Amino acid sequence: IRVYVPRDAAARSVGADEVAERIAAAATAHGQDVQVVRNGSRGMLWLEPLVEVETAEGRVGYGPVAPEEVDGLLAAGMLSGEGGDIGAHLGVVDELPWMKRQQRLTFARVGVTDPLSAEEYTSYGGMRGLREALARTPAEVVETVVDSGLRGRGGAGFPTGIKWRTVLGAESDLKFVCCNADEGDSGTFADRMLIEGDPFTLIEGMTIAAYAVGASEGYVYLRSEYPDAVATLRAAIEIARSKGWLGADVLGSGLAFDLHVRVGAGAYICGEETSMLESLEGKRGQVRAKPPIPALEGLFGRPTVVNNVLSLATVPVILAEDAEAYAAYGTGRSLGTSVFQLGGNVARGGIVETAFGITLGELVNDFGGGTSSGRPVRAVQVGGPLGAYLPVEQFDLPMDYEAFAAAGAMVGHGGIVVFDETVDMASMARFAFEFCAAESCGKCTPCRVGAVRGVETIDRIVAGEDRKKNLVLLDDLCELMTDGSLCAMGGLTPMPVQSAVRHFGKDFGA
Ligand code: NAI
Ligand code: SF4
Repeated sequence: IRVYVPRDAAARSVGADEVAERIAAAATAHGQDVQVVRNGSRGMLWLEPLVEVETAEGRVGYGPVAPEEVDGLLAAGMLSGEGGDIGAHLGVVDELPWMKRQQRLTFARVGVTDPLSAEEYTSYGGMRGLREALARTPAEVVETVVDSGLRGRGGAGFPTGIKWRTVLGAESDLKFVCCNADEGDSGTFADRMLIEGDPFTLIEGMTIAAYAVGASEGYVYLRSEYPDAVATLRAAIEIARSKGWLGADVLGSGLAFDLHVRVGAGAYICGEETSMLESLEGKRGQVRAKPPIPALEGLFGRPTVVNNVLSLATVPVILAEDAEAYAAYGTGRSLGTSVFQLGGNVARGGIVETAFGITLGELVNDFGGGTSSGRPVRAVQVGGPLGAYLPVEQFDLPMDYEAFAAAGAMVGHGGIVVFDETVDMASMARFAFEFCAAESCGKCTPCRVGAVRGVETIDRIVAGEDRKKNLVLLDDLCELMTDGSLCAMGGLTPMPVQSAVRHFGKDFGA
């Protein structure tokens, strides 16, 4: 009997390791032939630890399972997929509405397979994309990615294929592929779950990128706050090397490409691509002025692809299924699927991969089930700490880069943080400035000084000091930071602030 217990950090943090140990120990004690597989998480985080038992009908789930409940569940027939009156029994996991409504392409294997089993990886479609790529010319691979409409999932939404085209066209004897896995945005965790749940997909995507642009070396810049992801990725790279998926002769094609993991030290700004490159070069993580863009002068001054984890991990399925199949999902210029992350005060937090175009309200209410406190939703912040706060009146907004931009917001990396009616939006606006002051790299004045002045100005507004004058001053400051900052850190901090003032003026005494 195969029993699945996730090894994802979110599941481990609520006792998955002990659950797995108890199941294995009980099976040994009763002489049962049980194989406990440590899979990634399905992304239904409120059900973790989610135990799945393979049956003839499919994988039957039980969750959340506390370690002390294991013996009782086993006695009640869990290993035969029994339901009856077992409270944690969920039925066939793939049939759950939360799973059925999704279109999982990037996350197709996450939660399904053992992340470090190369055999399972290939039997579930892994390496098809790379084989397909190697059968084409590099330029054809680039054009396939262009045609798929894939846009950078890190937040900016720049077309991935066009970035690759620039790197392919750059003359150099040495090029790099760098994966930005410094997932610093609050309320985002998709990069982590992908790396912990299906690391070979990222390796395959980076190898395809390397072949497409002519790079020979790759780096994954992974944040130190993700120790499980670091360990899983390092182990996966070793396995990939032993399989000939990385190295001097990838899949016998003559392609030479190897991959290295570098662990960050905790600065938010190292998620900005040029700071990340400085940090990879062993320097202090400080923003470089652009141009030159990294596609032309990146790591050690060489042409470099810098892409987010999800952008790279989506490339294999695009090559395997072809560009048109991928572009058939989505809406307008936001094509394909995106991995949305529900967090904060939400009843059902986790990962939802669907085509672009689903509305904010469908994500928060249908998938998320409203707040975990049971109070009405008052605001959501979309796109990380630099994203806009939106009221429920805007829940009809489709998840689409252009629609969000037109509403003064951004989809960003797809994180959605939910707040109930008790939230004080003036303190959230203050927090945006505080965060910027703490994380600013200090290179430019609008951000370094503006963030501090912003905190002081909001304090004066809340205290009722010259409120009208200070609200005008706040607006001026936001305009200056938006237009005058060197990078998105200072440039986007006004977004949460101004959206909070615009939609929740009452909290500022307006
Ligand atoms: P950007 O718009 O300046 O650049 C986007 C990407 O396109 C960059 O990689 C840039 O080098 C590349 N690019 C631009 N023109 C190009 C050309 N002609 N050829 C090839 N490549 C070209 O945006 P930036 O500053 O890189 O990112 C800002 C975004 O980052 C924000 O929108 C925010 O959502 C997101 N963000 C994400 C975080 C996370 O944890 N994932 C954290 C903080 C911000
Ligand atoms: Fe550094 Fe802030 Fe300027 Fe970005 S905006 S370069 S983080 S000081």
